[in-house]
Formats: sequence, C-alpha cells, structure tokens
Amino acid sequence: MSRIVAASTQAIAEAAFLLKEGGLVGMPTETVYGIGANALDGTAVAKIFAAKGRPSFNPLIAHFHSIIQAQQFVVFNDRAQMVAQAFWPGALTLILPKKNNTPLSELATAGLDTVAVRVPNHDVALDLLRAVDFPIVAPSANKSGSLSPTTPAHVVESLGDAVEMILAAGACKVGLESTVLDLSSGKPIILRPGAITAEDLADVLGEPVPYAQGTDDGAIKSPGMLLKHYAPDTPVRLNAIDLAPGEALLAFGSDKFMGIKGGGAASSLPDDMRRNLSEEGDLHQAAANLFAMLKELDGAKASAIAVMNIPETGLGVAINDRLRRAAASG
Ligand code: TXA
Ligand code: MG
Repeated sequence: MSRIVAASTQAIAEAAFLLKEGGLVGMPTETVYGIGANALDGTAVAKIFAAKGRPSFNPLIAHFHSIIQAQQFVVFNDRAQMVAQAFWPGALTLILPKKNNTPLSELATAGLDTVAVRVPNHDVALDLLRAVDFPIVAPSANKSGSLSPTTPAHVVESLGDAVEMILAAGACKVGLESTVLDLSSGKPIILRPGAITAEDLADVLGEPVPYAQGTDDGAIKSPGMLLKHYAPDTPVRLNAIDLAPGEALLAFGSDKFMGIKGGGAASSLPDDMRRNLSEEGDLHQAAANLFAMLKELDGAKASAIAVMNIPETGLGVAINDRLRRAAASG
C-alpha cells in the first residue's frame, strides 16, 4: 500500500526527494488530489499514465509555484497576464504556447505545441513546488474514467500502491477540477468548466468567454474531439517487419534483424532515419521517447516512418493508441 503521510515540513522534503528521483507522489491541491511527477523527466511522466491506466496519452497540467516560473516555459499574452494576476494561485488552468526549446517532457504535453499551466492555491503544493524547483505535472489522482479524489483515502482506493507516498492535507476545499481556459488562439475558450466561471473570466478580460462548442451544458463530453493531436507529416506504417527503401525506422527492442527490401540492414540507415523507442523493450522508456522521436524522424523527410510492433499490454496500449492515430491521419 502507498503511505499516507501528514504533510509536515519533513514529509514535504521527502516527497521532493522522491520526485527528484523520478518517483510519483500524491499531492493535495485546492481542487482535487493530484498524482505528481517531474515535468522534465519523461520516464517519470510515463509512470503517471501507467498508474492511471490511461487508454491514451492526454496532455497533463504543469504546476508552478509562481507566474515568473511559468513564464520560463510558456509564452504569456496580454489575456494570460490579466487572468493569471487575477486568479493565481487558483483553480484556473491556462493553455498557452510552449516556448521554444523548453526542457518539458514531450510526453507531458502529448507532443502538442501548447502547455496547460497553473499555480495551485494550496500551501502544501506550493511548498513542494518550491522545494523541487521544477514544474510538477499532476493529473487527478484516480484511475482513468473514475471520479477525481478529494481526500487521501480516495487516492489509495483508486490507485492502490501506484504512488509511493501521499502527502495528506485533509479534504480539498474546491473539490472540482480547475477551469481550463484556452488562450492559445485568437479567442479565449473554456475547454473545461470549473470553479472559476465564464462570468468571472469575462469580468477580468472585458469580453465574453464562451464554452467550447458541442455540448448543451458546457461540459465536454469528449475531450479527445476537442484536443488537437500531434501527428507527423510523414505517413506512419505500423507493425513493420522490414523496411522499404526510403523509409525511416522507429524501432522497439532489438532492430538487428530489420532488413531493407532489395538489400541492406536497418543498421546501415543514416542517423536521422533511425530511432529506437527502447532497445531494452521497456514500455516506460518507449512512452517517454515516443513524441520526441516521432518529431525527429518527421524531420528526416522519409517516405514513411515504419514502426516495429509494440506489445498491446500496460503502457503499450496507450503507445499503440497514439501510433494508430498518427497512422490514420498521415
Ligand atoms: O484541478 C485540476 O486541474 C487537477 C489538479 C490536480 O491540478 N488536475 C487535473 O488534471 O484535473 P487532468 O489531467 O485530470 O486534466 C487536465 C485537463 C484535461 O482535460 C486535458 O485534456 C486538458 O487539461 N489539457 C492539458 N493540456 C492541454 C492542452 N495543451 N490543450 C488542451 N487541453 C489540455
Ligand atoms: Mg482527471
């Protein structure tokens, strides 16, 4: 079982240590309990998806201790500046363009060029963020498809021992996830209703703030439909057992026996045409590498990206889900 530990100064220091080591920590926020990982460490982020049993890689919210820290990772426009001043720390998540060359894990943002960011209004979360000094990605600490947890006991019920430690600080004040406001395009749009209402936002921005289209009550019934998915320009071919001339290789496990039709071996491909998600066949490592390597191979201008078979177990289910989407849209 994971340990529930009262959030003392010492416990926060221990949680910070676990996060630095690439572990997962259950953490309180004012909205719901989150399952936190180092946003800069792709393998740690992959553990979140494994723990939640997510059928696909949804992009995660990166949490910061201050506006200034968030500004190192995303581009703030005027609207972002205004609502962040008004509502942070607080239950408002902003979707903003990612800065060039940020060290954020590509898996955390699911390969998108936007990032969900917020500063939580909870002393324990803020102390933890200051103690690690890197952003913490934290989705709600529940299995995919079940209710968000508002007490430490809920976290254990839902996740079992998938997190090593849960920082306990009683029940969450808000009890409902943050409002997600997309400020990455010309008009502000609410992607997920939350504690901060459309009226609150309109008051500060001085313009109407609509909910995303497609529902009667503002609730998003199918976030997957609204969400842009990262897809390479190069066609993607799945379950490849050999390569056609001109194709790039995305390997999983040993590619020793991958041949090129008409002669040659994958090992003779130029560097920019060949990536391996995980030579050891480790699905966590593969998940951490997935979006970054797809992007790198997309830059090689190959006729297609041939992907070796990935087992449909554990994180492999989510990896294959994303690869199938990439193959379908290519
Ligand atoms: O209150 C909360 O926001 C909690 C606490 C722990 O902070 N976190 C939370 O995270 O609810 P999660 O992963 O359960 O929900 C994140 C939401 C999802 O609906 C996701 O699709 C959306 O944010 N999201 C994240 N990045 C996005 C992006 N780049 N573009 C659009 N939507 C994004
Ligand atoms: Mg959730």
